[in-house]
Amino acid sequence: MTPPYILRPMKVSDIEQVNEIERQSFTMPWSALTYVYEIRQNHHAHMGVLELPNQPPPQTGYRPFERLQVLFRPLTKSAPINHTLVAYGGMWFRDGEAHVSTIASHPDYRGRQLGELMLQGLVFKGLALEADRLVLEVRVSNTVAQRLYRKYGFEITNRIANYYRDNHEDAYIMTVSPIDTAYRARLQENLDTLRGRLAFSDSFTGLEINTFNPDAES
Ligand SMILES: CC(C)(COP(=O)(O)OP(=O)(O)OC[C@H]1O[C@@H](n2cnc3c(N)ncnc32)[C@H](O)[C@@H]1OP(=O)(O)O)[C@@H](O)C(=O)NCCC(=O)NCCS
Repeated sequence: MTPPYILRPMKVSDIEQVNEIERQSFTMPWSALTYVYEIRQNHHAHMGVLELPNQPPPQTGYRPFERLQVLFRPLTKSAPINHTLVAYGGMWFRDGEAHVSTIASHPDYRGRQLGELMLQGLVFKGLALEADRLVLEVRVSNTVAQRLYRKYGFEITNRIANYYRDNHEDAYIMTVSPIDTAYRARLQENLDTLRGRLAFSDSFTGLEINTFNPDAES
């Protein structure tokens, strides 16, 4: 049986694995330094990972973090890594708005509801911070991600022309608002379905989503 997944805050020592997923997922990946900033300095940022414990990470030969380790040795000194990160995500929270800044699952682990569990973690984190709206941008061509977002109540509310610098693609802005009892009930349904398929622990959301109460209005 697969050991329970662990949903937890991202650490600096996770960045190497995060970068590897990022490199395989995005045409304009964030740098390792950006992640250090988001984890250590950006007080609006909430970065999370989904860990598969007792599973050494795949060796890829791609080591973007090696040079950075020299610079950040005091931050990165840690025990040997014996877990695989299967997904990660980030959110910025400001003035009642929870903005999904990034999300990806490891290409080898897609189609197993792990990207969904990560998104759910970000949504619940937003609820824990008492967000009154959830927002994100997505490429108009990224129908897989859009389908996941729609499952979590995000609707297209705007389109921004020429948003992505690499290919000048447009972005959809997708939004959840209001976050009301009906939305919370929908989340509970999704959570119940997910719990039937995956075992996981949660130290990221602050809501302990294993015991989420949909009737608790913020
Ligand atoms: C988008 C992404 C995070 C989804 O994660 P995943 O682990 O592959 O998806 P899951 O197995 O958790 O599936 C959750 C939902 O996503 C949607 N989805 C996943 N794979 C899909 C596919 N091949 N076709 C259509 N919808 C799909 C479905 O709504 C699915 O729910 P369902 O199983 O009830 O139909 C992942 O594909 C990814 O990392 N993509 C590259 C990075 C990216 O595009 N990030 C989003 C930037 S805005």
